[in-house]
Amino acid sequence: MLQHYPNDLDLQRRFQYEAGSQEGTLPLVPLPQDPLQVTDIQETTYHDTHVPYVIPNNGPEHSRLDEQHDILVEMMQGDVIAAPLRNPRRILDVGCGTGIVTCHLGKTFPHAEVYGIDLSPIPITHAPPANVLFCKGIMPDVANPGDDPRFVAGSFDFVFSRLLIMGMNKWQDYVSAAAKLLQPGGLVEFQELDTRFYIDGTLCDEQWEWAKIFHKEAAKRGLDLQCGSHMEEYIHGAGLEVVEVKRYRWPYGDWLAKAGYPETLNAGLHMITGSIPMIKGMVAKMMEDDYSPARIAEVQAELAERIESMLGVCPMYVPWTVTVGRKPSGSIIT
Ligand SMILES: C[S@@+](CC[C@H](N)C(=O)[O-])C[C@H]1O[C@@H](n2cnc3c(N)ncnc32)[C@H](O)[C@@H]1O
Repeated sequence: MLQHYPNDLDLQRRFQYEAGSQEGTLPLVPLPQDPLQVTDIQETTYHDTHVPYVIPNNGPEHSRLDEQHDILVEMMQGDVIAAPLRNPRRILDVGCGTGIVTCHLGKTFPHAEVYGIDLSPIPITHAPPANVLFCKGIMPDVANPGDDPRFVAGSFDFVFSRLLIMGMNKWQDYVSAAAKLLQPGGLVEFQELDTRFYIDGTLCDEQWEWAKIFHKEAAKRGLDLQCGSHMEEYIHGAGLEVVEVKRYRWPYGDWLAKAGYPETLNAGLHMITGSIPMIKGMVAKMMEDDYSPARIAEVQAELAERIESMLGVCPMYVPWTVTVGRKPSGSIIT
């Protein structure tokens, strides 16, 4: 059974933190298993955990993630997060990647204790403020009783994650673990896409050979390629209230920008320059155990051709969904 902090205890902890703070920051104490940050490396490397995440963790991927951050914020008209946070004291950024959002949250809320956890070490590109600590951790495992005293039930005001789609194979367990970590009234926010391709609200990828293989491989690993669209269900399934759902179309190319949404221009271009090569690598990695190199090359070629043939011709997009949930006041989720 996970430990639950009653409100009065939590208040006491808050006052202790305030008393112990210096220059608006909080005394975060690293535990021995906290990884060092890494300098960017160029060769293709992957995380070393059991999670079925097939995207590299090297320098070029870190650059892609940071570029993607900028274009996502632009697409969301300047919003990094949507949750209405007021004076949060403990924040968790799950699957923090380069730590770009973690550092943003640390700077925005200097009185909060902000944790970024990830399967891989964090590059040193974003100098973290003193109230940010990065830890190596797997969600939902990190929220299991006894795993780590910093991630106990009822101790967070905000749990955030963005783009866990290729690494989270237990969505309901994850959202339930996030719900347990929250104190009553605390918020969760999930920013996720569906890796399914649409034109005018209708799926257009069902006959694509590469997509059939991709869907099969994803299902084998327990991934949910429509997790963005399913977040409301997961939130309800965890006993939380849905506060807000914002739906965006993440276009391929510039058609949506030309249709009156200029804030989507760079997002649409990033899909071509950043995402197509990334998806090709991801599909190859998923296929490597069961398919010949020749078949993998064939599938990659079809993938690029299918997507590229749509550019400038069809208004193709993937859904991007921002979902905010709240743990009800008086909740007894433990
Ligand atoms: C696509 S990146 C997104 C990074 C960051 N959230 C962002 O939006 O820039 C996904 C990150 O989540 C991490 N990750 C994937 N599955 C995870 C899991 N189950 N627990 C913790 N981290 C995970 C990966 O190592 C990777 O750094």
